[in-house]
Amino acid sequence: MNKFSRLGFIFAAAGSAVGLGNIWKFPYITGEYGGGAFVIVYLLCIVFIGLVVFIAESYLGQTSEANVSSTFVKLSKSKNSNWKYSGFMVFGGLIILSFYSVVLGWILNYIFISFASLPESSELAGSYFNSLVSQKIELQIFFHTIIALITIFIVLRGVKEGIEKINLILMPLLGLILFGLLIYAINLDSFSKSVEFMFSANWNKIDDNALLAALGQAFFTLSLGTGTILTYSASLPKNENFIKSSFYVGIVDTIIAIIAGLIIFAFLFEAGAKSSAGPGLVFISLPVIFQQWGVLGNIIAIAFFSALLFAGITSAVSMIEPLLMLFIERFNMTRRKAVVICGSIFYGLGIIALLSMSNSFKDSLTFFGKNAFDWMDFLTSSISMPIAAIMTCIFLGYFVDKNKIRDKFTQHAPKIVFDIWYFLVKYLVPFAIAILLLNKIGVIK
Ligand code: PHE
Repeated sequence: MNKFSRLGFIFAAAGSAVGLGNIWKFPYITGEYGGGAFVIVYLLCIVFIGLVVFIAESYLGQTSEANVSSTFVKLSKSKNSNWKYSGFMVFGGLIILSFYSVVLGWILNYIFISFASLPESSELAGSYFNSLVSQKIELQIFFHTIIALITIFIVLRGVKEGIEKINLILMPLLGLILFGLLIYAINLDSFSKSVEFMFSANWNKIDDNALLAALGQAFFTLSLGTGTILTYSASLPKNENFIKSSFYVGIVDTIIAIIAGLIIFAFLFEAGAKSSAGPGLVFISLPVIFQQWGVLGNIIAIAFFSALLFAGITSAVSMIEPLLMLFIERFNMTRRKAVVICGSIFYGLGIIALLSMSNSFKDSLTFFGKNAFDWMDFLTSSISMPIAAIMTCIFLGYFVDKNKIRDKFTQHAPKIVFDIWYFLVKYLVPFAIAILLLNKIGVIK
């Protein structure tokens, strides 16, 4: 098997982590929950839950060097073959990819709009975005097709030639664009307001919903609970320090989310716009602001949406790879065949997702009050990802030989790091996630 290089792994894992979650979702939920206090809760979730699970997945992958399903069987004390069902989590990645590709399609569409015709008022921006989602089915399918083809083309080339290469190109580009946008934002009068919004705590809006949103975001942004980090770590060279690389990825992911927030809020405040515009923030509020800045605005808009696109593509490839690896190893498929099968599934589901928001099809694609797009999001972010994370922790805490884990940890870090991590994995994290999960699906209140 072709492995990542050390740097290749860090770029690929960071590429997976940094995505629409950082640049689109994090700013808008931070805005909805009133800023600074939410950022603090989010950071706590990243450190005490997200990183713990990240290190857990990375340990499992690097130790087993296998797909998700075989990893659990291979590393369990009893070698119980029922652990193979843990492979369910990789389908989460494929389902996320279905609607993620649709959103990336919108972004691609906005890159074209940025060249010429940015909307002149919020009404126009709102009606453009709404008509894109509710009426322009062919256009959405067209862009979803392009994104699907790009993703398929990259993963067809494999871990080293496809995934590592694209990350080594797109991640530095993304860094460069964000750096440029940050410099521009720093020079705006509203930058200090943006800093204040992101870092001064206002606890009024922090309730259990905020807590759930912060935890869900921590999972989503670190690509946890879909087998992505486990699968990538299976291609991490054997003697590399998986603890250090996990910290690097966590730090990069957090810094990028914060920078994206600072940039976006500076833009919004500069134009006197609201910070709580929700999901439409980057598709409705920002384009109008860019429009007001003339030609410079066009350039900034192109840069901004390209950053989103690059971040998203490197995440998209990481959502499909766990299932590919499982098909290749367990069912002896060629990569090509696995890509064709998985590619067709997510492409088809993506079309269902986008149709479920259109005026013509939404009635037939809405079930129990949620359309197919929202169901895909709910079933992954709220159900399969947290369940997978709980299972990963319980597995490591109770079904794997503790001495073996300790030995591997202490090769790379002082024993105290292992002790703290193991305590969190065994006694705290799975139960904390379970309580929040039950709360979210309404079992406890
Ligand atoms: N972490 C990615 C983001 O922030 C999303 C993702 C989720 C990637 C699950 C892989 C697996 O956009």
